[in-house]
Amino acid sequence: MPIDYHAEKRVFTLSGGECSYGLHITPEGQLMHLYWGRRVPDGAITPHLAQDYPVQASFDLAANCLPWELPTLGQGWYGTPALDIRNAAGDHVLQLRYAGHRIYAGKKPLEGLPAVYAEQEREADSLEIDLQDSLLGLQVTLQYTVLNDSGAVARSMRVCNAGSETVQIMSAAAASVPLWGSDYDVIHLKGAWGRERAVIRTPMGQGEYAVFSRRGASGHEENPFMALCEPSATEHTGGVWAVSYIYSGSFYASAAADVLGNARLSMGMDARVFTWQLRPGEAFQTPEAILVYSHQGLNGMSQIYHRLYRLRLARGWWRDRQRPVLINNWEATYFDFTEDKILSIARQAHALGIELFVLDDGWFGDRNDDHTSLGDWTVNRKKLPGGLSGLAEKIHAMGMLFGLWVEPEMISPDSDLYRAHPDWCLHVAGRERTEARHQLVLDMSRAEVQEYVITAISAVLRESGADYIKWDMNRNMTEYFSPALPPERRMETQHRYMLGLYRVLEAITASFPRVLFESCSGGGGRFDGGMLFYMPQTWTSDNTDAMARLQIQYGTSMVYPACAMGAHVSAVPNHQCGRVTAMQTRCDVAIGGNFGFELDLTALSAEDLDVAKRMVRRVNQLRGLTQTGKFTRLISPEKHEYAAWQFTDEEKSQALLCVYRILSVANTAPIRIRMYHLNPDALYHAEDGRVFSGAELMYQGMTVTLTGDFSSQTILFSQSES
Ligand code: DGJ
Repeated sequence: MPIDYHAEKRVFTLSGGECSYGLHITPEGQLMHLYWGRRVPDGAITPHLAQDYPVQASFDLAANCLPWELPTLGQGWYGTPALDIRNAAGDHVLQLRYAGHRIYAGKKPLEGLPAVYAEQEREADSLEIDLQDSLLGLQVTLQYTVLNDSGAVARSMRVCNAGSETVQIMSAAAASVPLWGSDYDVIHLKGAWGRERAVIRTPMGQGEYAVFSRRGASGHEENPFMALCEPSATEHTGGVWAVSYIYSGSFYASAAADVLGNARLSMGMDARVFTWQLRPGEAFQTPEAILVYSHQGLNGMSQIYHRLYRLRLARGWWRDRQRPVLINNWEATYFDFTEDKILSIARQAHALGIELFVLDDGWFGDRNDDHTSLGDWTVNRKKLPGGLSGLAEKIHAMGMLFGLWVEPEMISPDSDLYRAHPDWCLHVAGRERTEARHQLVLDMSRAEVQEYVITAISAVLRESGADYIKWDMNRNMTEYFSPALPPERRMETQHRYMLGLYRVLEAITASFPRVLFESCSGGGGRFDGGMLFYMPQTWTSDNTDAMARLQIQYGTSMVYPACAMGAHVSAVPNHQCGRVTAMQTRCDVAIGGNFGFELDLTALSAEDLDVAKRMVRRVNQLRGLTQTGKFTRLISPEKHEYAAWQFTDEEKSQALLCVYRILSVANTAPIRIRMYHLNPDALYHAEDGRVFSGAELMYQGMTVTLTGDFSSQTILFSQSES
């Protein structure tokens, strides 16, 4: 049984994949956490764990030591609360007691919020537990879904005010899970523009280790993800407990040790930029967190996330389709282009076998630099005399798809939209409106702004007949206290913005179901599960340098599948790092994501054009494998002079090994690499003619000789009969 309730023991057990999760209702009606970890047989989880806490012998209050499933303030819990409510009397005391539960097959959607889903009832089982504070008339429903294949547990919470007084939610976590002991390493993905999602691994310590975003976007600096792992865990072995948030706004993730030295892993809203007023009769739904446990190390964890996010978070026409090889003109021309220039790049792209042309920033209003015109989504006829439709027709006539860049959530102070609606941006009366990249943020919490964006962007899509949209967002929120809300609700602005954005994305993607949407935020500043629900791929980083990309793609793969990562080959010297790498290496790195080009193809040497053409053919041959195969990290670029990863198909009949030499070292042994997930008894033919048994490749490994800085090799292994 995926979800079992043992009435006598008052124990819930949720089991799926290799994982189980257990809860207990105490005789007093408090909900305690019992277990999260490797799968146990039905009935194996008992309430002992919750009862064994040494609360009697301690100076401390019992409440501060117990493994609460939902810790709250005011009655002896001194840690970070998972739910903090200020009531009409001004205090924060909550006394939540079990009031009932429901178990059902399948999974309900979260209204207005992105979430993983089940296509058929048998894929998932759900549990809702109601907790009640009778004095306030508050009902809190903890929502759990166990995804049966993977054992991932989706967690969220709904708070309903069934009382007669208004209350204020001060903080709300989607998940807050205690773990036994605190001898863990904490892992998170830290970065900045151009160097997103570096893997940080450090001992957890005995305080609170927190990462967060307060920017109104998940951000470049931290990703809404945190994992705890056994200190001995590797990429392939050991226990890992991870949480990823299906949300694109500010967040707070932490690993905290309690007074007894037990850990608690939490993910939720950041209390510094969020409160929510709940009037009688109103309900608040938190976003969803996805809990993943793996006893097969970090790759085991990542592979659960990859499959789930690829198949049951991403949606729509493109979810299961091979993504087109694209050419984007941004690094080729920036704002400075004419239709002729665009067409010359497109013609060259077509000759190479590239399938999609993407016109980036600068096609609308008077936009010749980043000072102007965001919000005025009408074509610049000086640059494109035939309009968007004229250009799209010409691209389509070449046999290519046509794609377009937009930045719908923004407004330039120098725009017709701003002159008409100066109050539509996020602002606070009497304060300066903080500009970044010379632009302001539209107040997406307002219904009329949402309507404007839906209408304007739908018109662009209709006029252009675009097959692809790059949805960019190039600055974070300031003055995020909407004047359209009453003062007591202004702290809701950031979250209301996200709800507004999600409403807009749902409307537009539903109206244009065949369009491929790619999200972007100054590169990878909003690479999260929330955006993946609406758009199956994301621009990974503005840094297109192949060596920098090794790290960025490696870190991003901790949570997100390769088919979610835009990866482009750009010009050398690289525009972000100044580094010169070979065309072959740039292509071999981009093959690890959704492959594309972002350079002036008309300026390439004959030799580079040959490599590019060959690599487009190779991507065509391999993208079934790279976009849907199992991705395994083999050697981290962070600790070595070289790096490697591998894609394997479900049948273990093909595997692509990708090896990269970062810096060359004299007089060292060749690189030896052990592969994973092969059939040990099968024979595999390497492209270079060598034949290996699966066992040899996995247990002994193979050697790769790469000399010279920034060199690379990708080798396809195909299973053969003899
Ligand atoms: C930021 C994106 O990440 C770039 O790829 C490009 O689209 C620019 N914005 C355009 O302004």
